[in-house]
Formats: sequence, structure tokens, C-alpha cells
Amino acid sequence: MTDRYQQFSNSGLGRALVKRLGLPNPTRLRRYRLGAPGLDGPVLLGACPGGRLGDQVTAVCAGAGIEVLTAPAASHAALVFDATGAKAVEDLRGLYDFFHPVLRSLGACGRVVVLGTPPERLADAGEIVAQRALEGFVRSVGKELVRGSTAQLVYVEPGAEQGIASTLRFLLSGKSAYVDGQVIRIGGHGGPAVEPGDWSEPLAGKVALVTGASRGIGASIADVLARDGAHVVTLDIPAQGDELAAVANRVGGSTLQLDITSPDAPARLVEHLRERHGGVDVVVHNAGITRDKKLVNMKEGAWDAVLSVNLASQLRVNDALLAEGVLRDGGRIIGVSSIAGIAGNTGQTNYGTSKAGVIGMVNAYAPVLAERGMTINAVAPGFIETKMTAAVPLFIREAGRLMNSLSQGGLPVDVAETIAWYANPASGAVNGNVVRVCGQSLLGA
Ligand SMILES: NC(=O)c1ccc[n+]([C@@H]2O[C@H](COP(=O)([O-])OP(=O)(O)OC[C@H]3O[C@@H](n4cnc5c(N)ncnc54)[C@H](O)[C@@H]3O)[C@@H](O)[C@H]2O)c1
Repeated sequence: MTDRYQQFSNSGLGRALVKRLGLPNPTRLRRYRLGAPGLDGPVLLGACPGGRLGDQVTAVCAGAGIEVLTAPAASHAALVFDATGAKAVEDLRGLYDFFHPVLRSLGACGRVVVLGTPPERLADAGEIVAQRALEGFVRSVGKELVRGSTAQLVYVEPGAEQGIASTLRFLLSGKSAYVDGQVIRIGGHGGPAVEPGDWSEPLAGKVALVTGASRGIGASIADVLARDGAHVVTLDIPAQGDELAAVANRVGGSTLQLDITSPDAPARLVEHLRERHGGVDVVVHNAGITRDKKLVNMKEGAWDAVLSVNLASQLRVNDALLAEGVLRDGGRIIGVSSIAGIAGNTGQTNYGTSKAGVIGMVNAYAPVLAERGMTINAVAPGFIETKMTAAVPLFIREAGRLMNSLSQGGLPVDVAETIAWYANPASGAVNGNVVRVCGQSLLGA
């Protein structure tokens, strides 16, 4: 799917017009390519006095082949600031002192990452205030960054310092191209963070189930999880059988034709995964439908269908996989919500309800799965270039593309990469998160 505005604005005439009229000028985002360097330059690392994550950041970067500087150079690919030492409002001045002189040195598609302590884990009022304030800084600086650069806040619980590797690698790399202005929590409650032997194939030996995998975002998730080494079981309704087979062949995976809303779907899934694969490690609930109408005009069938596919069937599958012990140790469940579930959307009361319910699913299951050393998280995509969004009327489509800090729509691969970060065995401390893949959309922000 092409973004006509981006093509136009990158053409000779388009560039001139965009500049003269002050129109948004989307940068072609840096995305992950196998074998390409993780980052196009050094990271500048700063900290509030007393920060506890500097050594860990340096070690993770060294492992990823990324140079870390503690004194500014002419240009930087990323600016990482350890704000865990901020215990009072006065300490927030450290943000200004670090970022103000070097923000202009951030290269195209650069990264700002601020590290803090989750305020809800603190007792001292001054420290809670200082740590909570980081959110406003990151969300605002994200809106000021230009040329495809992004900003994120990572709250790391005391004791979970060893669990930051997969998250830091993800955020610094092109894999997080369309993730912007997000707050991520890393805690000690999701089970061990098992660093993969080979970071380019972290899912080697794992089995991943992807529902709705015959096209769109689901097909991209299958591609990325297979690239990361997983055997992917692709699932879709029988009517999508040919497309499903094509995706499975492409990724060297297998197929399961199944309507996830059918009453026997959980039992059939359990049987299939147990008998063919001895269990499953990663479950991605991607299948989803829309049946848009304003509530006053909505037929009850449209309400029921959306709630059934997007939410109820997923809960039934989770319960069956857990009750039957089919989700293996270190298991990962990943939901696909939507910014419509956060911001709401006209004509989507059914869809918004279901997608907010997916967030509820993450909240409800996270502590349960943590006890078993497993995790559950969700992505909430914004405007992603798919057949679904291509069908949206032109004006609304262009507005959806441009109403975010990166002034463009995301690609299915951006959602898939975020899911692969959750799936990584090293993401054991990433549990209970809902990360938007929306270029810092203005909707619901
Ligand atoms: N495209 C976007 O911009 C966007 C934004 C936010 C969220 N999402 C969500 O991302 C997910 C994928 O979206 P997409 O744009 O790729 O949609 P899509 O319609 O292209 O793909 C959805 C897939 O789910 C399958 N499916 C539907 N009902 C099923 C059932 N009962 N059993 C098994 N499979 C079933 C469909 O056959 C289809 O292959 C959905 O959950 C969607 O709500 C998409």
C-alpha cells in the first residue's frame, strides 16, 4: 500500500511545495534490515546523579555493537538519559541540562530514551512526583523531534535492571520505527529474562500461533516471527485457506483453518498444538473484524460478531491453553488492541468496546501469568497501511496518516516488530504493557 502524500512530498516539486506551504514533511523511517547496524552512530548517555541503570545501558549497547559516549560528539544516533536518580522536582533540571545542548545533534530517525522508576513502586512523595513528571517530558519532546526521530520512557522497577536488554535493543533499532511517545514498564513479575544465544534468531526452537494470519498485519507477524526463528502456526477461517497456505509456505510454517469463534475452537486448538507441536510458546491474537455503524443504526448481529471475534473467543482460547498446560514455560500471549479502544471512534462502539476489552484482558491476566513465569502484553496500532485502512474514505484516510508526530501511516511490519519484542525470551520482565504503534497519534493521547 503506498502513501501518496509521502511519495509526493519526497518528489522534487513536492518538497518545494511542502516547504513553502509549511505542510507536514514525513521522513522515510529507518526500519530493521538483517545485517544492517543496529544504530547509525553513537549513543550519548547521561544521568541524574544516583541513577542506577548506566552500567546496564552500557553493557546492553556493548552487546549490540553500539558505541556509548558520555561526552557529546558532533552527532548522535540516540540520546539515553537515566533519570532513576531524580528524587525531587529540582532534579528534573537534569533533563534540561542534558537534552537542551544536544537535541540538535540527533541524527535522522534518532532515538530519545528516558529511563525512570515506576512511580507506583515508590513511597516518597517528592520522588513520585519527579518520576511521574518524566512522562510529560517524553511525550512533549516526542512532539518536538523532527526527521523521523522518536522518544520513549521506560520505567524499570528496582530489581529488574537485568531485564532491560530486549527493550533497549528494540527501542534503539529500526524495529521500533513507528513506536513513539510511549511509556513502557519493566518489572520483575513476568518471569526470567532469558537472553537468546543469537539475537538475530531469538525465537529459534519456539512455536508461535498467529490468528488471522492470511493477510494484512497477521501475515506480517508471521513473517517477522519466522524471521526470528519460530515455527509459525498460521490460523485463519477456511474461506481464507489459499491465502493462508501461501503465507505458511512463505514462512516455512504450517496452517490451521479454524473459525476462532466456533464453540469447539479452543478444544481443537489445544489438540492441534499438543499433537503436532507438543505445545506452543507464543500466542498472537491478531484476528479481528470491524462492523462499523453508529450505535443508533447498528444491528445486534454486528455488535455480537465484533465482540465474539475480537474478544470473547480470545479469552476462551487463553483459558483452554492455560488449563490444558499447552502454553509452555516462558509462554507469551500477545493481544492486538487499537487506538480506537483507547480514544474511541465514531461508528465503532462495538470495535472500541472489544479493543478496550483486550486491554482489560492484559490487565486481568498479567498477574496470573506472572505467577507461571509467562507474560501477556498488547499492541495498540494506530493508522496502519492495510486493506482495512485503504477502504477508509480519502479525507479521513489522509487525516489518519498525518495526525501523528511522524506525519505518516505505519506499516504492518511495525506492529509485527513490536509483537516480536514481546515474544522475545529476553522480554520476561515485560508484562502487562499496552504499547501503541501509532507514531504518537494525536488521538487518545
Ligand atoms: N489496519 C489497521 O490500521 C489496524 C489498526 C488497529 C488495529 N488493527 C487490528 O489489527 C488486526 C489485524 O488487522 P488487519 O488490518 O490486518 O485486518 P484484516 O482484515 O486484513 O485481517 C484480519 C484477519 O483475521 C481473520 N479473521 C476474522 N475473523 C476470524 C475468525 N473468526 N477466525 C479466524 N480468523 C478470523 C480474517 O480472515 C483476516 O485474515 C485486527 O485485530 C485489527 O482490529 C488494525
